[in-house]
Amino acid sequence: MNARFRHKWSEGRDNQTMKTNNNPIGVFDSGIGGLSVWKELRKALPHESVVYLADGKNCPYGDKSAEEVEGFVLRAIEELLRHNVKLIVVACNTATAVAIDLLREKYDIPFVGMEPAVKPAALTSESGVIGILATRSSLQGDLFRNTCAKYADKVKILSAVGEGFVECVESGEENDAEVAEPIVRRAVMPLLREGADKIVLGCTHYPFLAAHIEKLVEGRGVEIINPAPAVARRTAWLLSEYKIKASESHKAEYRFVTFADDGYLAKITDKAMQLAEM
Ligand code: DGL
Repeated sequence: MNARFRHKWSEGRDNQTMKTNNNPIGVFDSGIGGLSVWKELRKALPHESVVYLADGKNCPYGDKSAEEVEGFVLRAIEELLRHNVKLIVVACNTATAVAIDLLREKYDIPFVGMEPAVKPAALTSESGVIGILATRSSLQGDLFRNTCAKYADKVKILSAVGEGFVECVESGEENDAEVAEPIVRRAVMPLLREGADKIVLGCTHYPFLAAHIEKLVEGRGVEIINPAPAVARRTAWLLSEYKIKASESHKAEYRFVTFADDGYLAKITDKAMQLAEM
């Protein structure tokens, strides 16, 4: 428990006259991927300040052990709490799969986690086959296994690791078709061949490769599902529920933090600025 934060949080919760809170939202990912969520948060919540923490030093998380990832996540949360964040969006499916229960137990602050969007895909699939793209760690976690078990009688759930996806996005090569297209084709084509009509982007890095996936599914009646807008809606709902929305007059500020070097920080900031202009 972070005592300093609990004290602040309790003050806000107990005082019923306090209906706004201009402290920032914390957003965390292993790297650049969580910016796909940051972009939606910014759109949905224009008055909210955001501190975005991209680990960068230990990315990718997807092939590391659960113990290792848990350690990285705890360090990241402690760092965000130093920025007085009022709510944390774990904009990383892998970190959510490994640590969300622990985080909710350990810290008295609302968390929004991410998990592959199996439910909307399963409920809307017409072919009865859905394809989930995610990291190895997310696909092996209990969270994914339990969600799949719920929908296994409705649809056939195929899954594939996006091998090389995270590295491609981290190196800024996502728009280089020669590099990105073969990587994407390798993971997506087997799902299409087996009849998937939904492709779920179960890692926050993957939306940055969506244009290549779109090219592959063109004309096949396949929907690509990116859960980031739903995560932004869930965040908005929680802010209202806990009465910690920023005031309408608050001018949002965006900060970027990393455990990597200044070059990495510049890369994250540049990417965010590009997304803000889109
Ligand atoms: N972007 C993260 C996710 O949503 C983690 C990717 C990685 O570091 O392997 O799973």
